[in-house]
Amino acid sequence: MSSLAGREGPRYKHLADDSAPYETISVDKLTPIIGAEISGVDIGKLMSDESRANRQMDEIHRALAENLVIFFRDQRITPEQHLAFGRRFGELHIHPAAPHEGDDPALMRIYADQNSPRANGEGWHSDVSCDLEPPMGSILHIRQCPPHGGDTLFASMYAAYEALSERMKTYLDGLAAFHDGESVYRGLYANYGVADRPAYPSAEHPVVRTHPVTGRKALYVNRGFTRHIIGIPRDESDAILSYLYQHAENPLFQCRFRWTENAIAFWDNRCTQHRAMWDYWPHTRAGTRVTIKGERPV
Ligand code: SIN
Repeated sequence: MSSLAGREGPRYKHLADDSAPYETISVDKLTPIIGAEISGVDIGKLMSDESRANRQMDEIHRALAENLVIFFRDQRITPEQHLAFGRRFGELHIHPAAPHEGDDPALMRIYADQNSPRANGEGWHSDVSCDLEPPMGSILHIRQCPPHGGDTLFASMYAAYEALSERMKTYLDGLAAFHDGESVYRGLYANYGVADRPAYPSAEHPVVRTHPVTGRKALYVNRGFTRHIIGIPRDESDAILSYLYQHAENPLFQCRFRWTENAIAFWDNRCTQHRAMWDYWPHTRAGTRVTIKGERPV
C-alpha cells in the first residue's frame, strides 16, 4: 500500500490549504482529504427563497467541489423539497432497478429493517457506474436512524489516484474497464416486489477519469460494478483491479459520517466511492435518495 508521506513530505499538502472564506455558509472539514459538514443552510427555506438561494447554491457547489462529499444536519425537508434541491444541480437520474417512494421515480427509497435480506450500498461503489452516463451526484436524506451504527464511509478517488506510483499511472493511462449492471441488479429488489427488467445497463469507462469541474484525475473502478479492464488478459485485469480496489480502500483517503435524523449527505460520484454499514440489525434505517444525472466519463 502506498504511503502518503515520503522524504519529500506529504503528497496531499495542496488539499489541506485554506481557500477563500465562504460568505453564506460555514464549512467544517471532517478530514483534510474528504468530507465537510455545512451549517448555516436551511434547505427547505432555500427552495422557496430565490434571492438567497443563488448565492448559497453557488457556495454549496463550491463546497462539494472542494470536499467531495458534504453533510447537512437537521434538515426537515419534504420529498418535494428534496427533489427540488436535487434539480438545482441538474436533471434527476432514475435508478434502473431500485424502488422509489411515492409517485416520483426520482425519489429512491433507502430502507432496511429486521426483515431485510440486505441493505443498500453495502460494498464500495460509485452509484450506477454501469450507466453510459453515470450520475454526477447523490443526495441522501436519512429520516430514521438506528440507535447506533448505520454510518456511511466515503473515499476520495482523487487521493487514490494521486497516491499511485508514476509507473502505475502510466500503465493505467488510456485503459478502459467494463462496468456491469446485470450481475448487480437482477433479482436484487425482489424482496420489495420489484419485477426485473429485460436488461440492465452496462458501459465501458476510462479507468482514470478527469473531473469536468475541477479538472483533477480520479480513479474510476469499483468493486460494485467494474468487471474487467478491456484489452488485457483476464488474469492480468483481475490482478490489477484487485490491487486498485485494495489501494482505494486505504483509510487515509476516507471519512466516515455518523448519521443523525434528518441529516443529508451529498456526494460527488465522479471522484468518490462510498460504502454503507449494515451493522444495526434488527433496527430500522430509512430515508430517500435523489440522484443527479451526470455525463459520460472522459
Ligand atoms: C447508497 O446510496 O449507496 C446507500 C448509502 C447509505 O445508505 O448510506
